[in-house]
Amino acid sequence: MAEAKENVLMEKIVSLCKRRGFIFQSSEIYGGINGFWDYGPLGAELKRNVKELWWNTMTRQREDVVGLEATIIMSPAIWKASGHVDTFADLMRECPLTRKRVRADQVEPQTGTIVKYLGALNRSSGYVLRGDSEEYPPTISLRPEQERTILEEFVAEERPSSLNEISHLKLGLCGEEILMRLGFQGNQKQIANAAREWVDRTVGMWYSEPFAFLLPQGKPVEAARKAAIQFYTDRGVLEPCLIGEKTFRVENSTDFHPESGAELSEARPFNLMFKTYVGPVESEDNVAYLRPETAQAIFAQFRNVLDTSRQKVPFGIAQVGKAFRNEVTPRNFTFRSREFEQMELEFFIKPDEAIEAIHGSVATVPATGHPGEPQPNWGWQAWHQYWVEERVRFYEGIGLSSQTLGFHIQTPEELAHYARACTDILFKFPFSKKDEQGNVAGDELEGIAARSDFDLSQHARFSGKPMGVFDEELRGAWGKLDEAKKKDLWQRYHDGRLKYLTKMGVDPAKAAKDAKEDADGLAKGQYIPHVIEPSAGVDRLILALITNAYSEVTKTDDKGKSETIYVMKFHPRVAPIKVGVMPLLKNKPELVKKALEVRDLLRPWMNVFYDDGGSIGKRYARQDEAGTPFCLTIDFDTLGEKPELLDTVTIRHRDDGKQERLAIGELLNWLLARVR
Ligand code: GAP
Repeated sequence: MAEAKENVLMEKIVSLCKRRGFIFQSSEIYGGINGFWDYGPLGAELKRNVKELWWNTMTRQREDVVGLEATIIMSPAIWKASGHVDTFADLMRECPLTRKRVRADQVEPQTGTIVKYLGALNRSSGYVLRGDSEEYPPTISLRPEQERTILEEFVAEERPSSLNEISHLKLGLCGEEILMRLGFQGNQKQIANAAREWVDRTVGMWYSEPFAFLLPQGKPVEAARKAAIQFYTDRGVLEPCLIGEKTFRVENSTDFHPESGAELSEARPFNLMFKTYVGPVESEDNVAYLRPETAQAIFAQFRNVLDTSRQKVPFGIAQVGKAFRNEVTPRNFTFRSREFEQMELEFFIKPDEAIEAIHGSVATVPATGHPGEPQPNWGWQAWHQYWVEERVRFYEGIGLSSQTLGFHIQTPEELAHYARACTDILFKFPFSKKDEQGNVAGDELEGIAARSDFDLSQHARFSGKPMGVFDEELRGAWGKLDEAKKKDLWQRYHDGRLKYLTKMGVDPAKAAKDAKEDADGLAKGQYIPHVIEPSAGVDRLILALITNAYSEVTKTDDKGKSETIYVMKFHPRVAPIKVGVMPLLKNKPELVKKALEVRDLLRPWMNVFYDDGGSIGKRYARQDEAGTPFCLTIDFDTLGEKPELLDTVTIRHRDDGKQERLAIGELLNWLLARVR
């Protein structure tokens, strides 16, 4: 089964990440905490490289973007204005298959047959599913039917999700019964131990969350089984074996997702923001939130940045930093975490009406491909297209080829009410779903949204502080327009503002007055900038880079013994270690001295790893697993054994194992040209 194989790949990647110190489970020594991950020595370097490359590309190498580093906790008023406090607080129910949420009070009543399962057995793993890292070696072998009978009879009704949830009494009784059936011989203590181990292992193999499906009239029960298998597979159960199928009729039920048929979660006020209190008093007045995105600080500081940075629209503000979301189901390793990092740019542009007033028309650009260098007559569509293409270039520049990427253009139904367009850049992860033709679209790495003037308008309304800019060029151009054009532009701008104000529930009379004032403002050179937002997740990108880099190579030695080694083929620009420096022999002081000199020459410029332990082959293999693109060996020729090779080193390339000789004096430039 293709999916199972891909899950196996994911398991290997998770295991390599731990073994080589890329990513660890947070708080692992205390059993971990779901949705939180730590980056080990190699992961920390990889992450730092990615963030620095993003920062350099998005800010330092551009004239029109500046940076910001804001606090994680901000005034709760920001989250009120942004809509996060209210829009996440609805009573929602979630479809466990599609993750789509529906308002609890808006589910259409349905009639049909309910098919219900108690859980599923995980046939092919000896691991506890809920505890990620604990291993339970099987001690008693049962045939699947035996396991199933025993589970259904003794454990199913309690539905424990861990051994601790089964009472000792129950466990003992259960164990005795099991062992009697199996004809197990032993004293009381042996029986108790064996029973405990058996239940431990079996419960570990059993995912105990129930699943129910509403079969519409005339549909075969197979549809329910297929959905249940997807449900349990999504939760990490390999080759699920469904347990306890029961069917019954229902009329006008509002418990099932109208599209997928799956039973909806309990209704919950779904606010993804982590709440805390500022100061010593835990009262409602002191509530604050950990930011769920970095973007809002940029909007809140827009005025200050504009006033201090000598930037003029169009320009952008970039920020990299932590974000927190209390995700209901964190999953797929780091892909959906509760604490993660974002790299966000808010790029402020003139509204199209201002562009049209100044330049006569808004530039049209082809719907695909890079539109080229920014032009003054670009409207939101050109800017949006530009940023999508710039971001794709960025990903390609760090080794994610176009074949590994995909796009999702959000449909009008998917778009936020204020957004005009949003293109998601996807990466084909091992866990990404296949469509019916077997194609993989991928999962979201980054979204590039055209968010209109919604955010600044909200902060202007909520804070009472002006967020508009004055544009001298617009004012001058407006005066030269003919009356018909003025009227047309005024009306369009007015209608856009009125639509926004009405949608936000502003009193109709006030909305009409404000929209008129805004349109009058445009005629005097004033507008609230629109925004294009490329918003990327650092952790998802790290996972994409690790997945992309992972490769297995089987090597056979002279004696015919073969072993599989792992090579992390990171692009040199992101590789955690750029170069390994190795003296050929550890016990030759003159080789060691030279190698340390080379290390010290390179160290101020890049991350260098000095290694003199073990055979040179072993040292190369260690660097291959870490993803180091180049290794330098200092040998006797370096010291002048062959005079023509004096002060040269061997450079070994990770991906093809090829070696070449280079003068130490040329090394730095040679490496910098490849790792930067
Ligand atoms: N300001 C817009 C915004 O935050 P988003 O699509 O919710 O948009 C942007 O998030 C990016 O942040 C996503 O494309 C993803 O890469 C990353 N991201 C969002 N939620 C995440 C999570 N729970 N775990 C890891 N990364 C996440």
